[in-house]
Amino acid sequence: MKIFKTIPEIKNHLKELKKEGFSIGFVPTMGALHKGHISLIRKACLGNDKVVCSIFVNPIQFTNKDDLLKYPRKVDSDFQMLRENNCDILFFPDTKEMYPEVEDTIYDFGHLDNILEGKFRPGHFNGVAIVVKKFLEIIEPDKAYFGKKDYQQLAVIQALVKNFNIPVEIIPCPTFREDDGLAMSSRNLRLSENERSIAPHIHKVLLQAKTKAATITAEELKTWVISEFSKYHEFKLEYFELADPDTLLPVKSLKKGQNCIALIAVYLGNIRLIDNIEIFY
Ligand code: PAJ
Repeated sequence: MKIFKTIPEIKNHLKELKKEGFSIGFVPTMGALHKGHISLIRKACLGNDKVVCSIFVNPIQFTNKDDLLKYPRKVDSDFQMLRENNCDILFFPDTKEMYPEVEDTIYDFGHLDNILEGKFRPGHFNGVAIVVKKFLEIIEPDKAYFGKKDYQQLAVIQALVKNFNIPVEIIPCPTFREDDGLAMSSRNLRLSENERSIAPHIHKVLLQAKTKAATITAEELKTWVISEFSKYHEFKLEYFELADPDTLLPVKSLKKGQNCIALIAVYLGNIRLIDNIEIFY
């Protein structure tokens, strides 16, 4: 695996590969890699001649300083996992390389910025959009891979690519889970033993909500979810919403034949976890 820390170096290398006709798949990450990230790398390996992964803990997408400071960094094991999974190129820039000057661009994603995650983490998606646009302009991949675990992020990236006519195909990838159903996340490492043991409750509630959605109203479903989380004092539910899978606008009543997505954000102790489930019936 070739590792590049500067923009000119990786651009030069990719220019040569593109001249030779190789297709490029790109997987942006913030490191502390787990099997969820690796599932994206594997998919990228299947769909492209060469795979580029980036590891960059993007300071401007953190709305909570403590979260940025405590973000896990595991460079050695990340490098090893990438090598073992046939990643060809790692882009590993530092903050100065990505942001030589203060970055204050503001993007407009309409309602997408103000609902769900956007409502509780104002500015977060703007920071994500800035860094992803920069990466896509540096790497110029044929395909870029994003997890459905961060469903709204995926929607924002799709809007970004469309708004700026960025010539890349965005490939959505399924959420990879632990055996007990907990969605894999770098933040899971920060859960205490007790918190980790009750964390699978989130996916269990979503699975039950999916079944219940066929028989009760969206409002009743929300009330039921609130009561499920009040069973454990360790949980603090931030939101549970049913939304249209394309626009992410709220779905008020479920109709047969209508697809929707249930999205949740919940604090477990001090750790904020998000998850979602697609409901098609
Ligand atoms: P990060 O949280 O490291 O995630 C990198 C990619 O892995 C994202 O596309 C995310 O949705 C995906 N991912 C994370 N957990 C997953 C899981 N359990 N199953 C499937 N995919 C999963 O998301 C970011 O970094 C950043 O916001 C980034 C896009 C890199 C911009 O800074």
